Amino acid sequence: MPTPDYWHYPRTALADSVLMAFGSGLSHALTMFAPRRMGKTEFLLKDIAPRAAEQGWRVFYHSFMSDGDEGGEVFRLSLAEFAAGRARTWLKPLTARVSAEVLGVKAELATRDARAPHSLTEVVQALAAGGRCLLLLDEAQILTRQARNEELLGGLRTGLDINKDTLKVLFTGSSREGLRRMFSEARAPFFHFGTNIELPTLERAFCTHLAAAFTRSTGRVLDEAQLWDAFVACGHVPAHLRAVVEAMVLNAGLTLATAVRLTSHHQHDETQYARQLNALPPLDRLVLRAVLTAAPLFAEETRARIGTTLGSAAPSTTLIQSATERLLRDEIITRRERGQYEISDPGFAQWLHALPTASDQAPLE
Ligand SMILES: Nc1ncnc2c1ncn2[C@@H]1O[C@H](COP(=O)(O)OP(=O)(O)OP(=O)(O)O)[C@@H](O)[C@H]1O
Ligand SMILES: [Mg+2]
Repeated sequence: MPTPDYWHYPRTALADSVLMAFGSGLSHALTMFAPRRMGKTEFLLKDIAPRAAEQGWRVFYHSFMSDGDEGGEVFRLSLAEFAAGRARTWLKPLTARVSAEVLGVKAELATRDARAPHSLTEVVQALAAGGRCLLLLDEAQILTRQARNEELLGGLRTGLDINKDTLKVLFTGSSREGLRRMFSEARAPFFHFGTNIELPTLERAFCTHLAAAFTRSTGRVLDEAQLWDAFVACGHVPAHLRAVVEAMVLNAGLTLATAVRLTSHHQHDETQYARQLNALPPLDRLVLRAVLTAAPLFAEETRARIGTTLGSAAPSTTLIQSATERLLRDEIITRRERGQYEISDPGFAQWLHALPTASDQAPLE
């Protein structure tokens, strides 16, 4: 039994309601969305998985985040190994050790026949034959980026469909657009798979919990009200607040305000953001800026302003449309329910907010 992580703030009620929906037969698949760094993976691994195991589920967790081109194959092999084995839980969080494991699987792949011995549907069937199982599929929408995964996704859908009484699945994703694509556009759409739940932002009790954990580990006191203010100021991103508290644990002389300032730089992967922005054509940058300021993208006024900045005539709605489609495709922005757009990564949005507008035109250093 691993020692419980006392820094983790449990979301037990939410985990229980998800498990109740599965256990009672009400749902067989749920999709959970939340932006980057908001705690999806932590919720799956530290709340859902142990709770489900306690309740007698076999639990399989898989993240599609880092397996690159081989993502589909690594998933199929991992699931096959789990289905064939006796382990009751299979949790493969994203760590360096896992990358090594994945490489191992890849090496194994290279020595195998090019033809897969078992299709994913067969693997899923075998899994179902072993009894009730919960599949936690983290960032599964990544699979839709490559056409070659279409068959695999179709196989997954069919397998889950046939075995929906035994196999329950929780998909998570940080791209609304990617999830939408997965559930509606693939050749074998998952559309009737997706009752959506949003991972709620953490409440004040999270800060109370962190303050208590801080005292437990250092014997010092951390003002909970100030911590909450800092949490609100950093956009309710738990990863950021954890970094702040960690800095204060390690450095007794650090005030909360200083810790917030020092860590905010690390939270934003500045080099990557700059690279991402630099890679965009000028029009796309300006459309991105319009999304950032929630300006109506196709309105005459917005187009005129973009034209002025570009030193040209106002771009047509068709041109704006293409730029929007490119930004959507690359998951830089996502479509919200009512025709609104938002920047997918809240860290990127915050970083853009802090940029002088002139950098929309000139490349950044
Ligand atoms: N319930 C929680 N209690 C304490 N800390 C948390 C909690 N949820 C998230 N965190 C902190 O936030 C960090 C980011 O969480 P996590 O990796 O689960 O986010 P995510 O939504 O999966 O992000 P990504 O989209 O990057 O995969 C964690 O490493 C942890 O430090
Ligand atoms: Mg995650």
